[in-house]
Amino acid sequence: MILTLPKWFDLHTHFRQGPAMASYIKAHLHMGCAGALAMPNTQPPVSRISGAAQADGWSIEGYSAELRAAGAAAFEQLIVPLYLTRQTTAAMIREGAAAGLLRACKYYPPHGTTNAEHGLPMDDLIGGEVLHAMEELGIVLCIHGEQHALTGPDYLDAQQNAETHFYRERMPRLLDAHPRLRIVCEHITTRTAAEFVAAAPEHVGATITPQHLLFTLGHLIQGLKYHLYCLPVVKFEDDRMALRQAAMEEGQRRFFAGTDSAPHTTKATACGCAAGCFTGGCAPQLYAMAFEDAGVDLGTGYGRARFERFLCLNGPAFYSFPASPQRFQMEKAPSQTPLLETPAGPVTPLPTGLDLELTWRMVG
Ligand code: NCD
Ligand code: ZN
Repeated sequence: MILTLPKWFDLHTHFRQGPAMASYIKAHLHMGCAGALAMPNTQPPVSRISGAAQADGWSIEGYSAELRAAGAAAFEQLIVPLYLTRQTTAAMIREGAAAGLLRACKYYPPHGTTNAEHGLPMDDLIGGEVLHAMEELGIVLCIHGEQHALTGPDYLDAQQNAETHFYRERMPRLLDAHPRLRIVCEHITTRTAAEFVAAAPEHVGATITPQHLLFTLGHLIQGLKYHLYCLPVVKFEDDRMALRQAAMEEGQRRFFAGTDSAPHTTKATACGCAAGCFTGGCAPQLYAMAFEDAGVDLGTGYGRARFERFLCLNGPAFYSFPASPQRFQMEKAPSQTPLLETPAGPVTPLPTGLDLELTWRMVG
């Protein structure tokens, strides 16, 4: 069986900084990816609109130029969101929108994930002039939806976790205060978040990663498979079922691909584990495996249409750019994902880290 699809868009990924960027971008191009939203949690963060990089931050203009020089010029679309920090002002939002450089901003829970230390609490943003300016100008707010600074049972327990706290307590307030703000709830992992998004107005969407459609906390814990450790952490079977239903429902328009592919050259350390799963080179194959695992037959027009909508069509529609006129192909055949050699060192792709053989192979 061969699947021919429009090239797809990864609306949440990490290309980092420095010489390894080119390797990461190449891995994306090799998996039929026509464009990406490249996350601003670089070192230093992407916290300005224009101008040369400074010690404390890149600009969208400068980081985008680096990405293009490293291979991203081949993409049809490249979106770099502005990292919302204490230095972000409404004037910057207006300047960025007027210059055509700013399409999205990123909320990170302070210290909540890799390179999230520049973020500010959601409570400090709600009702403020930065979000009002974004709302007025149609700039998308990309949200890492986890409540920060929780400990122990509040952070993760059977009844609640950092994401459910955020979607139950912060998101309703955000929507009340900014009813027209375009929002992408990124890498959602729980039934709570999936149901929140499904019930929200049309201008609220969500990305879902391959790992959250495929795996649960049990897969991570059984053998402590740390390559599966990312944030928000994989959750429970009921959550996986809700994510699958959201992504795979016929005709749905608000859930789309965003891999959160996050390369780390060192995952496990003496005192913990870096958060992030690397799925460059293998994401559409993993998404296809998740659809099949959930009972969607990709050999039928019906199944294929649902897959295409999630992977290739909904993201562009949500971000208001055209779907790709180019095509890529995947074949139903076993394949391996080798370590990615980069100038920063080798990176282990998620399937290899899990000793998992892919059941789909890229053609060409
Ligand atoms: C991401 C990273 O490594 O940059 N890690 C992750 O676990 N997803 C950051 C993020 O998106 O949370
Ligand atoms: Zn991410």
